[in-house]
Amino acid sequence: MTAAAPLLSVRDLRMTFPGRRGHSAPVRAVDGVSFDLAAGETLGLVGESGCGKSTTGRAIVRLLEPTAGSVVYDGRDISRLRQRALKPLRQELQMVFQDPHSSLNPRWTAARIIADPLLAQGRAAAGARRRAAELMELVGLLPQHLDRYPHEFSGGQAQRIGIARALATGPRLIVADEPVSALDVSVQAQIVNLMERLQRELGPAFLFIAHDLSVVKRVCDRVAVMYLGRIVEVGAKERVYAAPAHPYTRALLSAVPLPDPAAERVRERITLLGDPPNPAAPPPGCTFHPRCPKAREICRAEAPLLRIAAPGEARQVACHFPESSG
Ligand SMILES: Nc1ncnc2c1ncn2[C@@H]1O[C@H](COP(=O)(O)OP(=O)(O)O)[C@@H](O)[C@H]1O
Ligand code: SF4
Ligand SMILES: [Mg+2]
Repeated sequence: MTAAAPLLSVRDLRMTFPGRRGHSAPVRAVDGVSFDLAAGETLGLVGESGCGKSTTGRAIVRLLEPTAGSVVYDGRDISRLRQRALKPLRQELQMVFQDPHSSLNPRWTAARIIADPLLAQGRAAAGARRRAAELMELVGLLPQHLDRYPHEFSGGQAQRIGIARALATGPRLIVADEPVSALDVSVQAQIVNLMERLQRELGPAFLFIAHDLSVVKRVCDRVAVMYLGRIVEVGAKERVYAAPAHPYTRALLSAVPLPDPAAERVRERITLLGDPPNPAAPPPGCTFHPRCPKAREICRAEAPLLRIAAPGEARQVACHFPESSG
């Protein structure tokens, strides 16, 4: 039996932005990212602000053209396609943005926002409006509110509109870029639950971006942790959360409060030293070494490769001294 080819296969993706005013060094926002995503699978992509998550997501759905590397979607490298060739793919690759109020056109009604991708596909206006009403219901909004404007909805409701728009064309892959980070904590769980339900019912693959491991814990099948433009650990959710192998993953997890009060009292807390380094001047060797509690001499000199952590494990780690996974 051969394993089915992944829906998405990202290989050595790089995105370099020119330095400001042409003087400073170029910014290596994404510096060699590789991963696969199966049809219907949810991968959580997690890391501190500025580590390159959004740039990765935008390069995959081709809102950006990557500097190097490949993005193979459904068997075809789309990383160099021109706008015209990308057009038919737009309905299959959708994005949900962080701040719904700034990503939805304030002068358009909910009906127009949600129907827009359908109209762009050539769907007739009446049919597109009917579909928009169905999508409103699907995401938990009242179809009677189709003719309201984004500012008439709360943040959580506006994000539901953003999700309805992303679903309109029946996409096979949705990149959700911190879809709950801009929302009140009280509504974050509702939106995460909605996305989990939609994933189950409609079956698109999700790349779910968050800066915090707690947000993606419920929704993802696998999780990838990014640091300074690279993936430092990736594997099945159960493994990564229960036995993180990379010191950075351990530190991120130690910041997540535990629901059980007894466990919470004895929770290990690792405080990272200093700020994330500047991607225009990354430290030599392992780029995490200035902040790593386990750093040794070799870490300053040699960059660790992302590789299988232990025999028989699918989880990969980029560290010279990964935590042994007992
Ligand atoms: N258009 C751009 N021009 C120049 N630098 C950029 C641009 N977009 C992002 N960057 C830089 O690339 C790095 C990664 O950014 P981003 O992908 O937005 O990170 P994240 O989403 O993880 O917060 C940051 O240092 C950011 O300042
Ligand atoms: S390679 Fe060294 S510095 Fe980097 S994470 Fe591992 S132990 Fe820390
Ligand atoms: Mg971002």
